Amino acid sequence: MFVADCLQVNREGHLCVEQQDTLELAKKYGTPLFVMSETQIRKNCRLYQDSLQRFYGGNGLVLYASKAFCCKEICRIAAEEGMGLDVVSGGELYTAISAGFPADRIYFHGNNKTQTELIAALEHGVGTIVVDNLEELELLDRLAEAKGVCQQIMFRVKPGVDAHTHQFIRTGQIDSKFGFALETGEALAAVQRAAGLSHLNLSGLHCHIGSQIFDTEPFLLAVRVMIGFLAQIRQETGQVLHQLNLGGGFGIRYTPENDPPAYETYMEQVSAAVHETCALLDFPTPYILMEPGRSIVGPAGITLYTVGSVKEIPGVRTYVSVDGGMTDNPRYALYQAEYQIMNAGLAAGEKTMRVTLAGHCCESGDLIGENLPVQDLQKGDVVAVLSTGAYNYSMASHYNRVPNPPVVMVKGGTDRVIVKRETWEDLTRMDV
Ligand code: LLP
Repeated sequence: MFVADCLQVNREGHLCVEQQDTLELAKKYGTPLFVMSETQIRKNCRLYQDSLQRFYGGNGLVLYASKAFCCKEICRIAAEEGMGLDVVSGGELYTAISAGFPADRIYFHGNNKTQTELIAALEHGVGTIVVDNLEELELLDRLAEAKGVCQQIMFRVKPGVDAHTHQFIRTGQIDSKFGFALETGEALAAVQRAAGLSHLNLSGLHCHIGSQIFDTEPFLLAVRVMIGFLAQIRQETGQVLHQLNLGGGFGIRYTPENDPPAYETYMEQVSAAVHETCALLDFPTPYILMEPGRSIVGPAGITLYTVGSVKEIPGVRTYVSVDGGMTDNPRYALYQAEYQIMNAGLAAGEKTMRVTLAGHCCESGDLIGENLPVQDLQKGDVVAVLSTGAYNYSMASHYNRVPNPPVVMVKGGTDRVIVKRETWEDLTRMDV
């Protein structure tokens, strides 16, 4: 019935996260409210790590892609779980460092890192910078020289793999702003250039083929292409690069119809593909990195809203308006993303209505979803939107000067605020 293991229904028929009654949480903290399960997040981290151990002898590292949800507490949890961290901006880096995340396990991404961001990365001793373009390569070498260090880098490469997902989140094909293309020879030229730069140490290659991918085949294809390129680099330059970062992108269940493969299946197949391709090309098996974001935090989070009005337009549709919307969850507006919703107080009940769940912004497109099956809903009811742990809070905006909701973490019968609710005062803090 549910899209995540951390969700249950109690005897009163209320939706629970880790056995904590969501109606109680809504009463205690107010709505809109993000609720996340720490146990689920930790479990997801371990599933990846265990399968890396089991199928690849642990010769690698799982990085949490913090863009999915970044705050200090999530960085602390990822650090405690022994994860590495993918950051993609100075702000994510700052958050991680402020949380005490070990800098040597941080991988810094981005297609246009500023000089300020690169200097910050060098200052903090970021383990690896994933270089996206030649301008960045030259700049970073100069900055590392000025600092008197030799910085470890990887190159982001476009393997030319089409992951059959929404075009906005498909990044592995040649027409992408990210990385060096293989087909054009650009990637090989960059490797050759790096060999001549004395303050950079190229450790390997990175690719990321998209997000919310259900099929394992595009990942396996990317593995073959990338190892093929590693072998080509050895042949053309004599260099053997030992690290391969396969990016993130593993799909999760937003609706009961979604059926992503288990992480174990993914890892088993990837591992087999790496071993086969390496054997074929007589190339040493690389240290593997992967960067799940959505699949670590997505299923572990829900959003609670309070219904303000139910507007039935006969023969057209029923609008249910809530006290949040596109400011805390822009994914329907951006990608027509699907979610499962429920009346948190009637969670086991039959879904008798079909509604359009609308936010409170001054914009018709401010919707969380359309034609959504749900139990009876009336003013004052709490609605839960499931699987909102990834790319919701991290993509929140202040449109219409709407403050961002708080994030409450539940764990084994306890609950605590990990990100506070913003106030109207917070919204004017930068105003002069
Ligand atoms: N690594 C790199 C280099 C990435 O660009 C991404 C996501 C990830 C890892 C993590 O991918 P994940 O495992 O979370 O799929 N805002 C969109 C998703 C954008 C993903 C961007 N890059 C959404 O809401 O669906």
